[in-house]
Amino acid sequence: MKEGKIIRTAGPLVIASECLGAKMYDMVRIGELGLIGEIIELREDKAFIQVYEDTTGIGPGEPVVLTGEPLSVELGPGLIRSVFDGIQRPLDVIRAKEGDFITRGIQVPPLDRKRKWDFKPAVKKGQVVKEGDFLGEIEETPLIKHKIMVPPGKEGRIEEIKKGKMTIEETAAVIKGKEAEYRIRLFQVWPVRRNRRVKERKMPVNPLSTGQRVLDTLFPLAKGGTACVPGPFGSGKTVVQHQLAKWSDAQLIVFVACGERGNEVADLLLSFPELKDPSTGRPLMERTIIIANTSNMPVAAREASIYTGMTIAEYFRDMGYSVALMADSSSRWAEALREISGRMEEMPGEEGYPAYLASRLAEFYERAGRVVCLGSDRREGALSVIGAVSPPGGDLSDPVVQATLKVVKVFWALDDKLANERHFPAINWQNSYSLYVEHIKNHWKEETAEDFPEIRQEAMRLLEEESELLEIARLVGVESLSDSERLVLESAKSIREDFLHQNAFHPQDTYTSLRKQYLMLRTIVHFHNLGIKALKDGINLEDILSLGVREQISKMKFIPEKAEGLGVHDTFIEVDKEFKELIKKKG
Ligand SMILES: Nc1ncnc2c1ncn2[C@@H]1O[C@H](COP(=O)(O)OP(=O)(O)OP(=O)(O)O)[C@@H](O)[C@H]1O
Ligand SMILES: [Mg+2]
Repeated sequence: MKEGKIIRTAGPLVIASECLGAKMYDMVRIGELGLIGEIIELREDKAFIQVYEDTTGIGPGEPVVLTGEPLSVELGPGLIRSVFDGIQRPLDVIRAKEGDFITRGIQVPPLDRKRKWDFKPAVKKGQVVKEGDFLGEIEETPLIKHKIMVPPGKEGRIEEIKKGKMTIEETAAVIKGKEAEYRIRLFQVWPVRRNRRVKERKMPVNPLSTGQRVLDTLFPLAKGGTACVPGPFGSGKTVVQHQLAKWSDAQLIVFVACGERGNEVADLLLSFPELKDPSTGRPLMERTIIIANTSNMPVAAREASIYTGMTIAEYFRDMGYSVALMADSSSRWAEALREISGRMEEMPGEEGYPAYLASRLAEFYERAGRVVCLGSDRREGALSVIGAVSPPGGDLSDPVVQATLKVVKVFWALDDKLANERHFPAINWQNSYSLYVEHIKNHWKEETAEDFPEIRQEAMRLLEEESELLEIARLVGVESLSDSERLVLESAKSIREDFLHQNAFHPQDTYTSLRKQYLMLRTIVHFHNLGIKALKDGINLEDILSLGVREQISKMKFIPEKAEGLGVHDTFIEVDKEFKELIKKKG
């Protein structure tokens, strides 16, 4: 392999000369320790290398080995349940081998080479296959059948197909193509910066159910869609991301902890193995892959961690799964870009971020989507991407927030004021939005309830009216409001407190099915409508507000999911009953 020589180091950036012939984004090994780096700029014979490990003590004169290969990930059985660092080193394996610290330059294969998997072929000798076709499958976990696919760009006739126990390095199939014979193993290698190809992109139209009421009902994300969660320090970004990882109905979760504090990742690692998937009752780790690049790990590796996670997510999407990727936080990634760009003395843009910040963010989110996968069977896969953004001081004019907003379709704005009032999730219903509502309406109508979109609209209208009325009340006093206006305030409050408030740490409240969300909201809106009618019939506001059913409404969220149909519906019936009695008594 060719070698260059270090001429300068600047933090995570190393500049080497004698690198003619090297390519952009090639991986290199630096110094005697063989630290891992990636070429991010070439000027004449000089390579600018971002190094994914601590460069302390590395200096001029030391060799740089040019591998000639791009930074890549291994894709195959053994990914699920793993915890990798930003360049796909298996942290659990390293820990067992080396203890709590990662030895610099350590080389450990991402996927276990010794473990045997039971391969069940899906094709026969003589069959013609093309890229993306399933050759067979492995039950990687009880939740995920890992499909072994013909790698992109390959096609031909099956010459040989194995079955039974084998390691990932053994040949599972031999395909005879026009020009070559391909020996297919159980894993593929793919460059992290290159999107995995698909046949077709489609409009996301199915909601990603998250069990979080404010998200699912007010600002829904579609399967294959993109969302961002900006918010100031401590406003609940990580809790939202964790809730999505725990409860969303994606089949596979890739969680990228990028530059966040170690204890947040520890939370994830401790809680996940104990949590059960609500639909299958299986441990959540059986569908989860974690990429952990915490704040105490090298800055440049944050950059890689995002792409490593994305490539793994795309690979499972290619099998036809619905995958969700969470990145917490994309701001830390942008900071890594800024740091490296600064070291390279590039012309800084806004807030010192490089001019290419916006295009990098766009390229990242554009890898999400609902797609028709490669392969003869026209299967669909989806990759939803949700990025947290942590702008300094929660300032939404921050360049990372602004660039992200240009590409994502859902905006969940976390709010300091709400968090201080302990209104959680602190998602501001006034400036958050989802551009998927129109597209998923049909799905709601068919799967949840015909009138769900209308109920949602009514609830949104009440919240809007509330803020207008509060403004009026602030200027001229509450006394100036009519009874029906005061009822609007009460109903909006009920929407906020009985519906939008959701305690992530309460065993019952932490997750609500879409059906139950609908039943809850319908009950609140129903109370409001009957209230308005009763006012018109001359009933006192005070009498309406002292109906016992209001207490029941505030407890709907705690009704167990299994009894959901019964319990919440009972409250709805009770609303009817109490209004009838009230009108009989007073009317
Ligand atoms: N849905 C929720 N239910 C209950 N408590 C919540 C909820 N969301 C946030 N909190 C509370 O807010 C705290 C801070 O949340 P979190 O750690 O997610 O903030 P963050 O925005 O990620 O902060 P940082 O900027 O430090 O990363 C949590 O520890 C928890 O006490
Ligand atoms: Mg956080």
